[in-house]
Amino acid sequence: MKSLPKGRLFRLKSFGNDYHTRSAIKAVNSLNQYIEFKIQTAILILNHMKNTNAIGLDDKKAKKLAEKLNVLLANYSIFYQNVRGYHWNIKGEKFFELHLKFEELYTELQLKIDEVAERILTLGSVPQHSYSEYKKHAQIKESSQVSEGKKAVENILASFKTTITLQRELLELSGAAHDEGTNALMSDYIRAQEKLVWMYSSFLNK
Ligand SMILES: [Fe+2]
Repeated sequence: MKSLPKGRLFRLKSFGNDYHTRSAIKAVNSLNQYIEFKIQTAILILNHMKNTNAIGLDDKKAKKLAEKLNVLLANYSIFYQNVRGYHWNIKGEKFFELHLKFEELYTELQLKIDEVAERILTLGSVPQHSYSEYKKHAQIKESSQVSEGKKAVENILASFKTTITLQRELLELSGAAHDEGTNALMSDYIRAQEKLVWMYSSFLNK
């Protein structure tokens, strides 16, 4: 085999060394960029984790949602006790019909009270559980003795207006906080209660 002239061989070797040096520098730079990217990602994740609750929601937004849910809980609790009163005290020819309907309603409200309270806990807050707190925060007022069916149904309609309005506000808040759990719950409540409003209004010939 014919050997290459010395000078040319030297140039080739030199070219090879330069090539390897440049490749090594490129590789080190890429590695540095990769490590820096990984560190930045880790910092972002840590910062995000520091400001989120157990289900990954922004702490401040979850707290605000829980406060509003506590207002809803207060309203449901007063509403529930009012409807129990209507169930007990109702009089007149529609007694059997309304007595049963009111039982159906307060049973439904009782379930919602539990669901809302447990949602508040899921968000990392504490549900109110005393009637003195409920009275302070609820827009729905305690009913005094109501024995007339029409009056009871009118109160129920006004109470639904309050809960539906609050739930729409919660729908907006939970949407902004990416809280699908609360959002879906409010959505179900609104749809069911709007239908009940139609039914109770029909009872009043409205
Ligand atoms: Fe009863």
